[in-house]
Parts: sequence; structure tokens; C-alpha cells
Amino acid sequence: MKIDVLTLFPEIILGPASQSILKRSQESGLLNLNVVNIRDFAFDKHKKVDELPYGGGPGMVMRPDVAYRAVQSVLEKDSMLIMMTPSGGMFDQRMAASLAEKDKLVILCGHYEGVDERIRLLCNPLCLSIGHYVLTNGALAAAVVIDAVVRLIPGVLGNAQSLEEESFSTTDEETIEYPQYTRPREFMGLNVPDVLLSGDHLKIKKWRQEEALKRTREYEETVKKMAIQQEQ
Ligand code: ADE
Repeated sequence: MKIDVLTLFPEIILGPASQSILKRSQESGLLNLNVVNIRDFAFDKHKKVDELPYGGGPGMVMRPDVAYRAVQSVLEKDSMLIMMTPSGGMFDQRMAASLAEKDKLVILCGHYEGVDERIRLLCNPLCLSIGHYVLTNGALAAAVVIDAVVRLIPGVLGNAQSLEEESFSTTDEETIEYPQYTRPREFMGLNVPDVLLSGDHLKIKKWRQEEALKRTREYEETVKKMAIQQEQ
């Protein structure tokens, strides 16, 4: 897969991309990652990429002419263009799986108060948000998307079974992953649950489903309590 990332902060992408599985996937040729600095496409000698918003309001908006030039420099006929923005559709495991099937992604990272709307109108990107909160810029969000997508490219993880098992719990968006245990069998007085040592796969599956549900309910309770505290 080829991924071009257009950002004002290449280091935010290059840091995670130089570690662990993302690093190995590039070394093995499964991922071709190209990080482009949007500032290189500015028109003036000050390399200005942002302006005040028409109509007033806080912050700065990325200029459409600069962003458009950056997009056109890498976009190919068969690329899928994505724009990271808090006003996009919610990125999830299902979207990660469908993006993992593409050959070429171009990811435009917004900054400031966003990107001039004409980029959306002219380039029709798939707008993605990674959550209902506002980050200082889209590069952090793009790093999350890249990580979630690349690990699903066949051959990247090498352990197909772990992906298969995971998909049963993580495509069900409402459920949190079950607890995992490894060696040692006893740690600070806490033992690995007997069921995991039983070798009974049906029992283990059932236990994991129950624990995943328990965790999900506990998390929902915590979220509710936090919301109540915030109201007070
Ligand atoms: N840019 C700023 N916040 C973001 C978010 N939550 N998701 C995607 N891009 C963003």
C-alpha cells in the first residue's frame, strides 16, 4: 500500500512510522509511506499556509490554493483521498478494514480552525474524525488511522489468527476487548484465572465474552458518573 500524508508537521507522522510494526512494514515493502510538508506548496517567500477566516471568528484557516497544490502533487487516478477533521465521519475498525484493502491513500491533515471548505467541494475527500474531541492538528489523527489500517494489511502482522479472533470483538463496536493474561501464573498475589489454564476452548470463549461485557458495563458506568460530576 502507498500512503501519502500531507501535513504541516511531518515529524508527528515520521515518529510513529519509524517504530515497531510500521517500521517493519516499510522495510518489507508492504507499506510505502511518503510524508509531504504542505508548507512546501506555499506561494510566497514567507511560506504562508493559513489566513483569517472570512466572516470573523477565532483562529486561522488553511488556504485552499496551498492545500490544493499539495493534494495534486501526490493524488493519482486510483488514490483514495482522506481528510482528517473533527467534523468528519467517525473512524472505526470497520473503516480501517475497508481502507486496508485500498492500494493508495492520500491523507490530508488539517490544522488551525480547519481547511477552507473549497477543498471539500473540489476534491471530495472522505472526511474522517478519530473521536468527538478537537486535537491541535490532524497529523496525530492521521497517525492513528495509519496505524490501525496498516496492521490489517495482509502479511503485516504475520499472525492471522490474532486478527481473526480480534475482529469478532472489535467490529462489535459496543464491546470492549476481554482481559488478557500471560506469565507468570501468579503476580503480587493475583493468579491467572483457572479457566484460561483449563484447555477447554468453549469455556474460555464463553468466559471471555462474559468478561468483555462486564468491562463494557463498568466503563459505561464510569462514563455516566463522570458526566454527572461534570454537571455538578
Ligand atoms: N483534527 C483535530 N481534531 C481531530 C479529530 N478528532 N479527528 C480527526 N482530525 C482532527
